[in-house]
Amino acid sequence: MPQHIGILTSGGDTPGLNAAIRGIGKAAIRTHGMTVVGFRDGFKGLMQNRHVPLNASALSGILTQGGTILGTSREKPHKMLVGGKKRDMTDAILENIEAHHLDALICLGGGGTQKNALHLHKNGAPVITLPKTIDKDVWGTDATFGFDTALGIATEAIDRLHSTAHSHHRIVVVELMGHNAGWLALGAGLAGGADVILLPEIPYDAEAIAETVKTRRAGGSTFSIVAVSEGARSVEDHAALETARAAVERADGDERKAAKAELRALESTMDDCTSRLSRRLEELTGLEARVTILGHVQRGGTPSAQDRLLATRLGTTAARLAAEGTTGVMVAMVNGRAVPVPLEEVAGKRATVPLDHPWIATARNLGLGLGD
Ligand code: F6P
Repeated sequence: MPQHIGILTSGGDTPGLNAAIRGIGKAAIRTHGMTVVGFRDGFKGLMQNRHVPLNASALSGILTQGGTILGTSREKPHKMLVGGKKRDMTDAILENIEAHHLDALICLGGGGTQKNALHLHKNGAPVITLPKTIDKDVWGTDATFGFDTALGIATEAIDRLHSTAHSHHRIVVVELMGHNAGWLALGAGLAGGADVILLPEIPYDAEAIAETVKTRRAGGSTFSIVAVSEGARSVEDHAALETARAAVERADGDERKAAKAELRALESTMDDCTSRLSRRLEELTGLEARVTILGHVQRGGTPSAQDRLLATRLGTTAARLAAEGTTGVMVAMVNGRAVPVPLEEVAGKRATVPLDHPWIATARNLGLGLGD
């Protein structure tokens, strides 16, 4: 009897998703004699049983394509928007896994997907996950596909901002994605030669940044590039967020709901942090400043060679693990090898930049400002 596997992509799209789908599918069909089905738009499509056969022709020609041929969504199995309400659709999902006789459901996603997959696994589903995200914040793996492509795009953007900042003698504040991890801003800031790099891991002081800019100006450099991660916060905002998060942790029941609402309200007042920082730097330095928010361009387009390679290695390993009957794991890249890591160890954790990471030491050795 041939084995059957299903594939879905969940969370934000990422370059390399199609390379991973292709890697899983080709290895599953050619090497392990399996049949492969794809589910549309993440867990929502699985719940609605919207599926497509992933045969040799569907898998052909997709290696270089950005996005995901399956479509994606951020819907969670246990809190899915159905008929205008959030409902627990775990049972409907389990029924569809059963109806397709899946020996493994391979879920391609970031931190949220690892949690959702673990939830399904605990409810009896044979899941395997792959780590994809431009944020590089999935626990238990040295690499996530999408990061290298985004790093290249963000670095090129910083390169290009140099000539305009230089010509106008301006501060250019460039905001990079990364959610609550600073990998992308730190990597692109270093590779692109930013003068200041601001990370969620290091709360910043606008006056310290202004000092870096003024020191540069005193040394004859009349422009500065400030690379800021979208999750970076000032010392004051960081402290307010910590207090609000602690209140959520302490509370129960209705009080917890209220504390969560307060936290969300506080977070939304910080949506324009980058613009506020830019205006503050103008006040403190007397220089003109401009903001560039790179946004989704960082996730778009064809994957880098590195991401294709990573996604293909993780994908083919996932197919092998499925053939062997290993489930409840994420396929991680550890010390250059694609290996299974129990989902229990991965889910619910976030890999932020350790303060003693060599990239931070490199930035300090270069004399860059980190806002502290
Ligand atoms: O997790 C990937 C990511 O691109 C983050 O860097 C960013 O915060 C978020 O997704 C944006 O999400 P959306 O595409 O839903 O706006």
